[in-house]
Amino acid sequence: VWKEMKRLRVEQVVFCQEEAAGLQAVIAIHSTKLGPALGGCRMWTYASENDAVADAVRLARGMTYKSAFFGLPYGGGKAVIVGNPAADKSEDKFRALGRFIERLQGRYITGVDLGTTVRDMDWIRQETAYVTDTTGTIMATGDFTAEMTAYGVFLGMKASADYLLGSGDLAGRTVAVQGLGKVGYLLCGMLRDAGAQLVVADIDDARAEKAVKAYHARVVAPDAIYGENCDIFAPCALGGVLNDDTIPKLRCAIVAGAANNQLQEEIRHGEDLEQRGILYAPDYVLNAGGIIITACELQGVSVPDMKRSVERIYGLLQKVYRYARQEGVPTWLAANLMAEEELQRP
Ligand code: NAI
Repeated sequence: VWKEMKRLRVEQVVFCQEEAAGLQAVIAIHSTKLGPALGGCRMWTYASENDAVADAVRLARGMTYKSAFFGLPYGGGKAVIVGNPAADKSEDKFRALGRFIERLQGRYITGVDLGTTVRDMDWIRQETAYVTDTTGTIMATGDFTAEMTAYGVFLGMKASADYLLGSGDLAGRTVAVQGLGKVGYLLCGMLRDAGAQLVVADIDDARAEKAVKAYHARVVAPDAIYGENCDIFAPCALGGVLNDDTIPKLRCAIVAGAANNQLQEEIRHGEDLEQRGILYAPDYVLNAGGIIITACELQGVSVPDMKRSVERIYGLLQKVYRYARQEGVPTWLAANLMAEEELQRP
């Protein structure tokens, strides 16, 4: 673990075990340089201890970059609980984790992530105040988070079109949206209002049908969405969708979507897109709506000001593109370097 901690410059990894509560968890604090480490709690059936630690550390590092990139006064952290979210939850387990978080005295602030819910955060809240997304917070209404995430992605698309195609006006542009869940569906509404033509795909037929009815979208099979001739391809379902199989199929000018970790391998697949002349909007810049409003809520910012904070995505994404061009580096690396600069600031 230490070797990996050194490689990724991780501050602290906390192994948590409480036998009576059946808790086995890992809290990774990647960095507290800019403030308390902020990042949700994931629950998953990890195949091994190594997998759990690796996931916590990788996700915590991603949170450090995301916060630093936007100049938020937070560091990056993540907690992972080993277990099946559908079968292994209990109040005792989450309260036990809450006590571990309390012992960190504010170095780490948790929240909802894959496999955890507002109720779980309410249990943690019984033991510590270092938790977001509890009942009564704006973040607890997942709808607002999804709306702000979709809004950030929409603005990122406009910024990308402006940079590459010479206009941020999406009227008449074709956008292919993969995944019509909480974020993808709201995004389609914003695109439709802006006059864009929509091509959509979802493995759930009912969701695709809903987009046809509401937005006159054209539906294609899930596998066919990659090969659609479009201006923008928007991955809003799973990670790892930009890979050896899919990149050669792409017929878009821009990739800009909400999904986390879209590039299966950052270096190789980032370069592949670059060589094909496809502009890649780094995922964590585009989908930062959620973290931005979490940070705002922690600091007591009003809802209109939260929205304005999300709007910074437009200008910052263009800054990434300019930086990438000036330095001759891929866009994903430009974003990381900009985040690193924030972190190195004395
Ligand atoms: P969701 O679970 O509500 O929606 C995902 C949708 O993708 C579902 O409709 C599902 O049927 C569909 N899907 C799954 N596999 C597919 C495939 N192979 N082809 C086509 N469609 C497929 O998730 P949500 O909340 O909309 O998030 C979407 C993505 O954005 C995820 O990767 C998530 O990690 C990321 N994200 C979400 C945020 C949020 O605020 N909800 C914030 C930041 C990132």
